[in-house]
Amino acid sequence: SNLSTLCECRRLDGKIVIITGGASGIGAESARLFADHGAKVVMVDVQEELGQNVVVSMGSDRASFYRCDVSNETEVENAVKFTVEKHGKLDVLFSNAGVILFSQPGVVETPASILDLDLEKFDRTMAVNVRGAAVFIKHAARAMVEKGTRGSIVCTTSVTAEVGGQGSHEYTASKHGLVGLIKSVCGDLGTHGIRINGVAPFAVATGMTSHDEETAKQVEGYCEAKGILKGVVLKARHVAEAALFLASDDSAYISGQNVAVDGGFCVVRPI
Ligand SMILES: NC(=O)c1ccc[n+]([C@@H]2O[C@H](COP(=O)([O-])OP(=O)(O)OC[C@H]3O[C@@H](n4cnc5c(N)ncnc54)[C@H](O)[C@@H]3O)[C@@H](O)[C@H]2O)c1
Repeated sequence: SNLSTLCECRRLDGKIVIITGGASGIGAESARLFADHGAKVVMVDVQEELGQNVVVSMGSDRASFYRCDVSNETEVENAVKFTVEKHGKLDVLFSNAGVILFSQPGVVETPASILDLDLEKFDRTMAVNVRGAAVFIKHAARAMVEKGTRGSIVCTTSVTAEVGGQGSHEYTASKHGLVGLIKSVCGDLGTHGIRINGVAPFAVATGMTSHDEETAKQVEGYCEAKGILKGVVLKARHVAEAALFLASDDSAYISGQNVAVDGGFCVVRPI
């Protein structure tokens, strides 16, 4: 962080950023990286204590936390309002909050067959992963358009947005839906100079996929075994770096893309 204060390569200098799902995993890692690049970050999450801890570790001059469930429109509207009142504008939305509903949180299980599809799980997954992203994009884009900000929106999708067989039916459908939303919104917001893209990670050990060191090792073991690119284990930091690129002016003419952070997983079918 000292280095990025000194060098001229701060890629989000003076930018105001909201990160949903910012209390944990990819979101928390991105909050740190974005702030190191000069952004003021508002982290939005339902995990209040964890979120406040991230703020404390980063310093309250660089980050703040706002408790908000992305599946609740009033709370989303208030989170955007909080940000614009505090910082005067909004430049970047990193819509990253998402859920995979396992029987036990952080314990990866074999997805259920469509023959046993649980519609409550289906609805909840859609409500957070697709509807939650849509409503956040709605209110963030309103704030950007109102202030004439040529903003950038980044959504965390997944390799499950490209191929089947990597997650439950509801999760796979939700991430495909999210990519559809990105493509649809791209034309709409392009007229306002606002870009929107996705980052699509392969398996990463985070709160979503693991609950202790042992399960984190299992996820990373899966990544090493099934991954195409050898010698690198995917970390939240790698996803944050791609999100930083898409959030910043380094990607000034890139919009409507779903950038895979998967070491080639989705384009190679080993024989
Ligand atoms: N970990 C992986 O292997 C992986 C792979 C591909 C994509 N992703 C995606 O990455 C994103 C981030 O997940 P992660 O892996 O960092 O997991 P994580 O569980 O560590 O972080 C997700 C955060 O989202 C928050 N969240 C969940 N529901 C919410 C809601 N309704 N409102 C507000 N916040 C909510 C959680 O509290 C959590 O802090 C998700 O969209 C996930 O689908 C993860």
